[in-house]
Amino acid sequence: MVSSVALLFGAVAAWAVYTYVSGLASNIAKARKANLPYIVVPAHPYNKLWQITFWIWVPLIKRLPKSWWEGWLFVLEPDWGYRGGRKVWEPFGENFLVVGPGAISLFTRNAETIRQVTARRELFPKDTTDYQILTMFGQNVLTTEGSLWRMHRKVTAASFNEKNAAHTFAESINQTHGLISEWLGPDGKGHKTITTAEHDTMTLALNIIGYVGFGLRLLWPGQTLPPDIDPKLAKYGSLEPPSGHTMSFAQALASTLEYLLVLLLVPWSVLKRLPFKWARNSWEAKENYMGYMDEFLQDKIAEVRQGEQPKDSMDIMGQLVRAKYGKSASESSELCDSDIIGNAFIIIVAGHETTANTLHFTFTELANNPAAQRALQKDVDDICGKDDPSTWNYESVINPLLASHLAAAMNETLRLMPAVPEIPKHVAPSRGDQVIIIDGEKHTLAAGMTVGLSAVSVQRNPRYWPTRPSKVQPGQDDLDDFEPERWFRSSDSARDEIEDGDTEDYGGFKGRDTSDSLFRPARGAFIPFSDGARSCLGRRIAQVEMLAALAVVFQKYSIELAVDEWASDDEVEKMSAEERRRLYKKAQDMCRATLRKASSRLTLKLHGGMHVPIRLVKRGEERFVNVVDTDELA
Ligand code: HEM
Ligand SMILES: *[C@@H]1O[C@H](CO)[C@@H](O)[C@H](O)[C@H]1NC(C)=O
Ligand SMILES: *[C@@H]1O[C@H](CO)[C@@H](O)[C@H](O)[C@H]1NC(C)=O
Repeated sequence: MVSSVALLFGAVAAWAVYTYVSGLASNIAKARKANLPYIVVPAHPYNKLWQITFWIWVPLIKRLPKSWWEGWLFVLEPDWGYRGGRKVWEPFGENFLVVGPGAISLFTRNAETIRQVTARRELFPKDTTDYQILTMFGQNVLTTEGSLWRMHRKVTAASFNEKNAAHTFAESINQTHGLISEWLGPDGKGHKTITTAEHDTMTLALNIIGYVGFGLRLLWPGQTLPPDIDPKLAKYGSLEPPSGHTMSFAQALASTLEYLLVLLLVPWSVLKRLPFKWARNSWEAKENYMGYMDEFLQDKIAEVRQGEQPKDSMDIMGQLVRAKYGKSASESSELCDSDIIGNAFIIIVAGHETTANTLHFTFTELANNPAAQRALQKDVDDICGKDDPSTWNYESVINPLLASHLAAAMNETLRLMPAVPEIPKHVAPSRGDQVIIIDGEKHTLAAGMTVGLSAVSVQRNPRYWPTRPSKVQPGQDDLDDFEPERWFRSSDSARDEIEDGDTEDYGGFKGRDTSDSLFRPARGAFIPFSDGARSCLGRRIAQVEMLAALAVVFQKYSIELAVDEWASDDEVEKMSAEERRRLYKKAQDMCRATLRKASSRLTLKLHGGMHVPIRLVKRGEERFVNVVDTDELA
């Protein structure tokens, strides 16, 4: 008896060791064939068990002699791309493979590689199993591949046109007034320390996508619904839960997003029964959200059946409903109701946190870099003048804004802190090995290999970006610094275009968002919105929204880092310019250190309650940003 149990254990152990070793050996063989630098790791960084337990192992491994783990442990820690910086790439160059027993991955900061991968959508698709968690409300454009994706992409892309970009511009202007009132405080004077900037930009982005995407009026604290609102929509805008709900729509949506990771990771049948507060809250949010979305869908179906004309807004839900229930529904009739709700959800998620964080980081970096803020304000004054923002005309200001210091600041934030720091693809498992060419040499990538396009790393790769000496880190170049001015340096790198072979129109904005006098990074070297047919559908919407918000804020205000930690307002009042500069430097150092600790969960942001406190002050009432870095004014 004992011996047969022992035998069984022995057999299982032998089988486990065999699988581990043979898996590793086969992946090492693939790495050799690719002829790229590689490191061998005991567990692959994408291994789920590793991802849950890495925090136990990493400190243990670090107790061993450094030379044993120095060369590979970094890839097993989350956010190595953002936090590790350029240093971790030094031993490898621009591409390296990570070989584990169960998987092999290529990581790249080489623009040529990135171009080939993003251009060949069918050979380098997304690994949709990575996205299964985002299908909880239904399949959608982000989580599908192949012909199913084409169908989703076509029906959603219809809403992303210039007319809707103009609506977004107007609504962003309107909502930014809400943000400013929040930041000025009840007395309307400003000079109040804001620790909730990230939360507030989330509200801003949510209110914008809620209205332009879905016609829903969401409110800032203290606001009330306009009296003439459509009673059907009042239900969603109301701050009190309407009958049949225990939360208002805004609350249900905000909590669903807040508890998104819980909802994604814990099976709902389990979640429902867990006796914890977070479990109850997330369950309640999800139930309410799904209830609202079902009602919203039914309302839209009724509207479309009654032949109601499309609304004068993006009306993404209406667009999807018409694709299925409208008169000309044909190609898209494969769409089911849960797909409609799934796409609505993904557009809210994709369109909200990414934009909010980019805007938050842009505000923060501008507070931290007074010279860049002043340059931006000068452009706002030149382009928009003193006119009331509600009179700004989209067609006439959008191109100048896109060529201004506002767009440069936005680009620079997207370069340093892209919302999606690494874009995951893989070599299609069913299409055989693929050859890519890097610097004239062929490399064979094995079928099934995952490919991580490292946006953070290629966007700081000195090969593609002209550099100058850093002003903050003596002896280094300025690639890790926020320097919007770099977007006005001349570019000698011609943009290499790669033929897509796929000439179909998958929607999204096609026009140029640049003028020739600006720096144009080599194709593949700047990929905050990814590239190719599978790039971000909302790029134009996001840019328009952020530019409008920046223009409205900086037309009348400046943003400064708060210094409460070191000095009271009275103390600052008495300080000389030189003393203020010295004080501000402390806040700047702290700000940089905090931003370096950003991490990526769904998107790159400051997690775990970290924040950079800021203040909104009227232009002319600045305490710091008019006296810091002023040598550049000369
Ligand atoms: C600064 C803001 C934004 C950034 C940095 C960003 C970035 C990205 C990136 C990198 C992808 C590719 C993801 C992947 O390959 O895994 C993507 C996809 C997508 N984004 Fe955005 N995005 C932003 C704003 C928006 C907005 C405002 C919307 C909608 C209103 C949106 C809708 C989408 C959709 C629908 C996809 C999936 C496209 C597809 O797979 O065919 N995004 N975005
Ligand atoms: C924003 O839009 C709402 C609803 O149309 C309107 O009542 C409000 O006055 C607008 N606010 C501003 C500042 O334009
Ligand atoms: C921002 O980046 C885009 C994409 O590379 C580029 O076309 C555009 O010119 C940049 N904007 C500015 C103001 O430099």
